[in-house]
Amino acid sequence: MKKTVLILSIAVTSLGLQAHAEGNPEAGRAKSNSCVACHGADGNSPVAMFPKLAGQEQDYLYHSLRAYKSGKRKNPIMGGQVANLSDADMADLAAYFAAQHGLSVRY
Ligand code: HEC
Repeated sequence: MKKTVLILSIAVTSLGLQAHAEGNPEAGRAKSNSCVACHGADGNSPVAMFPKLAGQEQDYLYHSLRAYKSGKRKNPIMGGQVANLSDADMADLAAYFAAQHGLSVRY
């Protein structure tokens, strides 16, 4: 019994740590100044050629940024934008834009 409790609490703790690694929206807001020029205020781009980021799934945004950085997703504009971003920066930015009102992809 004690062992089960221990294992469960380890599992819960590691889930908690994972959630923490998902980014901080407030930190993301502070890092988003350079994104606004194309993606619009709060990620609500008024221009069709720049995707709306507001309200997009956090996981999708994070993995898109990582893919631009690794070169798996190729785009000359975004490749340049992410070049100097750390993993934590990308997680924070994803958390920030996902928390904005815009796209309605949740159901
Ligand atoms: C100079 C304009 C420009 C700037 C500045 C810019 N982006 Fe982008 N962004 C684009 C374009 C164009 C695309 C579409 C690229 C493609 O087709 O893959 C894009 C795509 C994206 C996507 C993928 C969206 C999707 O729906 O798949 C994310 C996420 C993103 N940008 C985040 C950011 C973040 C975060 C910043 C700031 C650090 C930023 N962008 C700055 C032009 C820009």
